[in-house]
Amino acid sequence: MTAIQFLTATGQKCSPIRQEFILLSDVLGLSALVDSINHARPPAATENTVLGPFFTTDAADVDHHGSIASEGKGEPLFVSIRVLDTHGKPIAGAKVETWETDAEGFYDVQYEGREFPDCRGRLTSRDDGACEFWAVVPVAYPIPSDGPVGSLLRSLHRHVFRPAHLHIMVEADGYETLTTALYPEGDEYLKSDAVFGVKKSLICKIDTVSDKAAGERVRAKSLPFKQLKWDFVLASKEEADKVREAKMEKMRVK
Ligand SMILES: [Fe+2]
Repeated sequence: MTAIQFLTATGQKCSPIRQEFILLSDVLGLSALVDSINHARPPAATENTVLGPFFTTDAADVDHHGSIASEGKGEPLFVSIRVLDTHGKPIAGAKVETWETDAEGFYDVQYEGREFPDCRGRLTSRDDGACEFWAVVPVAYPIPSDGPVGSLLRSLHRHVFRPAHLHIMVEADGYETLTTALYPEGDEYLKSDAVFGVKKSLICKIDTVSDKAAGERVRAKSLPFKQLKWDFVLASKEEADKVREAKMEKMRVK
């Protein structure tokens, strides 16, 4: 197959819910490279990572302590995050989007006849910068491999797995939008992510909580329950511009 034939086949595999070209960019490491150049951040801010091909714009609004996942989609996970600026000040009113696969390793858009968005939701941070919601414990999953990108990976003797992760996007006025993901520690694919999305600073811990009062506060259906806590730190647009300019200056040929 020639390069032109390969790119044509990649284009022909795309559909409104199948983004084979994004996937190609991802497995080549191009998405991660462009992302790291375009989204350079000050060291205090949370790092960006790849958006991936499964973000949709139709996630439902979720109440605090509500669930982004419908019943039976996986092991419940309570996610407690805060949105902060680089000085540790809470950012209220930030728009938080989150999405993940179910326990089978599939995003809702990968199911035929998808009726409603599932395992994805949208929240707004409270005055203390917090967002708390129920999700499911992320699992590792294979990227779609029945198209040209899968053939490419097989010919390169590369596996097709991504480590377990929870995608998060945070937007707030005056701040650089953060598109990132959290990767629970211990996953066998953390060091060989098929799309090069893992960053050390984004590896998180999932705790097992047995405390009854804690369970009642978060409306856990049973004890113990799983919990993930994380602070997302946003860079202001000014801070991000400064870092970007410095990076571009370093790359400029003199
Ligand atoms: Fe993903």
